[in-house]
Amino acid sequence: MQKEALRLRVNGSLREALVPHHRSLLDFLRDDLELTGTKRGCDDGSCGACTVLLDGCSRLSCITLAHGVPGRSVTTIEGAGQPGRLSDLQLAFISEGGLQCGFCTPGMVLAAGALLQRIPHPSEEQVREGLSNNSCRCTGYGRIVQAVRRAAGAPEETP
Ligand code: FES
Ligand code: FES
Repeated sequence: MQKEALRLRVNGSLREALVPHHRSLLDFLRDDLELTGTKRGCDDGSCGACTVLLDGCSRLSCITLAHGVPGRSVTTIEGAGQPGRLSDLQLAFISEGGLQCGFCTPGMVLAAGALLQRIPHPSEEQVREGLSNNSCRCTGYGRIVQAVRRAAGAPEETP
């Protein structure tokens, strides 16, 4: 298999490797760099479990070629927040019950973080739209939306 040199910045560190031409960014992150927080779900661009940030914007890593993003800056869930300390968004997912099995959570948290960068105080509709590429089989989405809005400073909703 033909390999070519690839340089990328991943979670703030420069990573260099010989990578086959058709290797997906997801395979590169999980299998070569052992960053397994990025999940493989459908592997065809329809579930959002593999979401990472590319220069701060959400990107589905399963349908992105590693060689398609040379020199760019990739953030995975391992690089979100600060080492040893959960971000406010991650804490809101926990306090609002925005996760159950947790499989979708890394992608959901990264997509939500990118959304809050673009729209610091999103409406419920904007959160649902912003996370529309990310599927969750467990929560029914209501608590995820609540968690994102709470992290954005929205007042607690009365039942
Ligand atoms: S694993 Fe990439 S979208 Fe489902
Ligand atoms: S918490 Fe299980 S898929 Fe979302």
